[in-house]
Amino acid sequence: MADKEAGLFWLILVIATIVFVAVTGTLLFFIIRYRARPDSPPARQIGGNQKLEITLALIPTVVLFIVLFATIFTMFSLAQPASANTLTVKAIGHQWWWEFQYPGQKIVTADEMYIPVNTVVHVELESNNVIHSFWVPQLGGKTDVIPGHNNTTWLEASKAGDYRGLCTEFCGTQHAHMDYLVRAVSQDQFQAWVNQQTQSATMLPKTDPNYAGQQVFLTKGCIGCHLIDGVNQASKLQIGPNLTHFGSRQLIAGWVLDNNTANLKAWIHDAQAVKPGSDMPAFTTMSESDLDALVAYLQSLQ
Ligand code: CUA
Repeated sequence: MADKEAGLFWLILVIATIVFVAVTGTLLFFIIRYRARPDSPPARQIGGNQKLEITLALIPTVVLFIVLFATIFTMFSLAQPASANTLTVKAIGHQWWWEFQYPGQKIVTADEMYIPVNTVVHVELESNNVIHSFWVPQLGGKTDVIPGHNNTTWLEASKAGDYRGLCTEFCGTQHAHMDYLVRAVSQDQFQAWVNQQTQSATMLPKTDPNYAGQQVFLTKGCIGCHLIDGVNQASKLQIGPNLTHFGSRQLIAGWVLDNNTANLKAWIHDAQAVKPGSDMPAFTTMSESDLDALVAYLQSLQ
């Protein structure tokens, strides 16, 4: 999609450049060549030239029709492609992070959207709050994410790699911190990721080194907003991201931080200092040992 849009952009840029150079060049030539000199005779009056006027009206008409048809042609070619090889992902704009659901694979994740290369990915866009806009500049155009009006878009990565996605509609104080990563991987890697992500976490036994962290998660308020499949039940208000495979992600909270021990500690300790206004409350009274245990537990959730 981005390829087609770039093609249109370059075509219009080339046409516009030719027009600009021709018009400005002609203008400068006449200003300089026929400027008033001390010995200039009075200007000769002429009554117009019909052929010249028709020509000068026809040229811009033809140029504008070329641009119009190229634009319409590109718009139609951006319609959702029919392809046997497709994947559907639901992207939900939260304040301020993205949730990604894979209805066919029964996966719920956040911040990172895995897609297989050379596959048409239909993206269903939902918002449960304000208007956001979904944009992966290297892969496609912008599509608004409107509460109560579910838009769709599509993208297809022809090369494996990480592509930065962002929110491109002002949606509140942390609008600029609403990025995500689209990770295009081979079919095999994608299948491996699906197999990993569809597994539930398990209740850890008391002998497990991360048991203490699990208990912090279960008793210190986290379950009010977060879900770890197999560990707690979904609450009515599922405000925060699903953490079942949190340790496998590289980003925290809409790419405001990379996912590492120091950052995760800082985030849980005082999220409001890191990302003011987010729904994640500060846990500044949590003891150091509880915090360390919780961080280790969350990172173990691969
Ligand atoms: Cu969401 Cu800007």
